[in-house]
Amino acid sequence: MKAIVCHEFAPVDRLRYEDVQPRALRAGEVRIAVHAAGVNFPDSLKAEGQHQIKPPLPWIPGSETGGIVTEVAPGVTRHKVGDRVMGVSGADGGGFAQQIVLPQERAFALPASMSFAQAAAVPVVYGTSLYALKQRARMQPGESLLVLGAAGGVGLATVQLGKAMGARVIAAASTPAKRELALQHGADHAVDYTLPDWREQVKALTGGKGVDVVYDPVGGDAFDEAVRAVGWMGRYLVIGFTAGRIPTLKVNMPLVKGYDLVGVRYDVWRDGWWSEARANLEQVLAWCAEGRLQPLVSARYPLERAVEAMRSITGRQVTGKVVLEMA
Ligand SMILES: NC(=O)c1ccc[n+]([C@@H]2O[C@H](COP(=O)([O-])OP(=O)(O)OC[C@H]3O[C@@H](n4cnc5c(N)ncnc54)[C@H](OP(=O)(O)O)[C@@H]3O)[C@@H](O)[C@H]2O)c1
Repeated sequence: MKAIVCHEFAPVDRLRYEDVQPRALRAGEVRIAVHAAGVNFPDSLKAEGQHQIKPPLPWIPGSETGGIVTEVAPGVTRHKVGDRVMGVSGADGGGFAQQIVLPQERAFALPASMSFAQAAAVPVVYGTSLYALKQRARMQPGESLLVLGAAGGVGLATVQLGKAMGARVIAAASTPAKRELALQHGADHAVDYTLPDWREQVKALTGGKGVDVVYDPVGGDAFDEAVRAVGWMGRYLVIGFTAGRIPTLKVNMPLVKGYDLVGVRYDVWRDGWWSEARANLEQVLAWCAEGRLQPLVSARYPLERAVEAMRSITGRQVTGKVVLEMA
């Protein structure tokens, strides 16, 4: 089969598109013919050796897939050959390939209304965001939610989940087109967080109280402002640092406002607490089937152009999700 293979931790253009021998199944595993694979910011971080996780080499990136089951090993009860499924890898990745082997519980029956590309756009961003809002922030209906980078992968998923969970959503994004996209996906308000006074706009939108929950995948200057827009007993969710600078916080701020700074580490929780993580993803698929969540696939690339797809994400050009499609 063809795959994108990382042989050294280096800039992503050193990734190779090459032939790889598929491995035999072990008990309880399924083989999936991959039709689409989601691309995420951390795929590039891992390939470049800048992520907390350094996978053993050679390594195939890609942690989310949509495809068809082509083979099942003894002991598989959940799936049969021909089933349309969404696949969720662990730290070992493997999605940027024509086939992937997963334990049966890592594959989910796909609602008929969902395409393979949409399936590949679900696990990381909706998984991260539902974990952040539900398990980490314990967000309640009626609370206000500020989403930074709201038109990006995790950002847009959070806007949609926030509405599905009954929050009042304030989207922050850098361009009019990105803010419009967040509004189309359910945000109640949108602010331009490149303006100097943007946190005052956020405060005004909450009647001066400040927001209950902040979802921050951006860091940098946006963090410096957003930590001043949190209300009493709020929760500030630290997701990532796409701006490139890991910010610092004077801890009198959470003390004075009695708010929590909450680290979110989805991959470790997902793999360590799989039954809860699986239940979250089943909830996401049910909401997708009901039309309450609408995964946005904004760009599709053939597998052999994976590096271009990865660069489009790190280059700040992307809204929603980018997927690779296999011939
Ligand atoms: N903690 C976890 O468990 C977890 C799980 C998944 C992802 N993440 C992290 O979450 C972050 C976002 O991932 P994503 O897939 O949603 O990425 P994404 O689609 O590229 O979205 C990130 C957003 O960041 C904003 N941004 C600000 N400065 C940027 C810059 N210099 N370069 C690129 N984007 C910039 C962009 O919005 P504007 O143009 O509107 O500013 C962009 O839409 C990444 O750091 C990723 O590693 C963390």
